[in-house]
Amino acid sequence: MGNTRAEIMDMLLCDTASREMLFESARRLRNENVGDGVYLRGLIEYSNVCRKNCLYCGIRAANNGVARYTLAPQQVFEAARFAYENQYGSIVLQGGEQINESHIAIITNLIAEIKLLSNNELGITLSMGEQTRDTYRRWFEAGAHRYLLRIETSSEELYRRIHPNDGVHSYAARLQALSDLRKTGFQVGTGVMVGLPFQTTENLADDILFMKQLDIDMCGMGPYIVSEHTPLADYASLLENEQWRFEMTLRMIAVLRIMMPDINIAATTALQAIDPRGRLKAIECGANVVMPNISPLDVRANYSLYNNKPLSFDSSVLEQLVMYGQWGDSQHFKKR
Ligand code: 5AD
Ligand code: SF4
Repeated sequence: MGNTRAEIMDMLLCDTASREMLFESARRLRNENVGDGVYLRGLIEYSNVCRKNCLYCGIRAANNGVARYTLAPQQVFEAARFAYENQYGSIVLQGGEQINESHIAIITNLIAEIKLLSNNELGITLSMGEQTRDTYRRWFEAGAHRYLLRIETSSEELYRRIHPNDGVHSYAARLQALSDLRKTGFQVGTGVMVGLPFQTTENLADDILFMKQLDIDMCGMGPYIVSEHTPLADYASLLENEQWRFEMTLRMIAVLRIMMPDINIAATTALQAIDPRGRLKAIECGANVVMPNISPLDVRANYSLYNNKPLSFDSSVLEQLVMYGQWGDSQHFKKR
């Protein structure tokens, strides 16, 4: 079921009664394939320095209004230790895209040190943009084992409209990076933004088919949220309203769960920016991963990808569901 573009579009656009069935199927398939527990990844926002200029992003390089920071190793270790002591199981080290050797070497060391300080117990996911195969290999060998790199949209045409045409924002390079990550041995996560200007329901259905075809292990999808002082904000009048983008993201999560029942799907922060119960609602329609922000408090406001980005998440609302102290690797990856 749900294998053609038309069938996926039917699910994305279904009426309220069918929506309940959609969400229920997604929940059931999640419970049968990956269990009803939720896995935590403590999110460490390592640096908001980025060489790229994605037209939608608040920390794009050309944005002069951003106070740029990079965490000191001690700050990263403190956050990692917090995750370890609180039984988070895994962390995500996320930062803007930087490709210089000193950055690469620092990240390599951080990974190795975090493995040491946690007695090899913390799982490490990276989200550090496009890198060379050699860099992926160094980071993998240092101990990271999952990597997140969103395709943002699977439509090459739309990709071109939301990125500058300057040679460093290429759809082909993105695809190559996803393939390199897989070959390196990483569990690979990707994802898209939902409700972008110019995006159609066909595009969204194709996004699902893209993830299926790429046979991804993990996914993070969130609603597009206008970020002031970015070029894409000029198109805000073209957007569906926030509630629509929120609802469509939930439907995308449910459909993806139905089509790829054993992958890990994140309940993303951007959902929470629209609805205070956003992440919980995502879990109720098939998501099984939450990434609480554990960055040092004083830098959180500077990692502002979009307006109203929440600075914290009260994970006590999840208390009954959380699977403490486990990596929670993608079942899909294990079976490969
Ligand atoms: N709205 C929603 N998500 C955004 N991201 C960046 N800018 C925005 C925005 N304005 C997401 C991108 C990127 C991730 C780190 O943040 O999908 O991959
Ligand atoms: Fe940099 Fe990522 Fe923002 Fe693009 S989306 S500008 S790569 S931080």
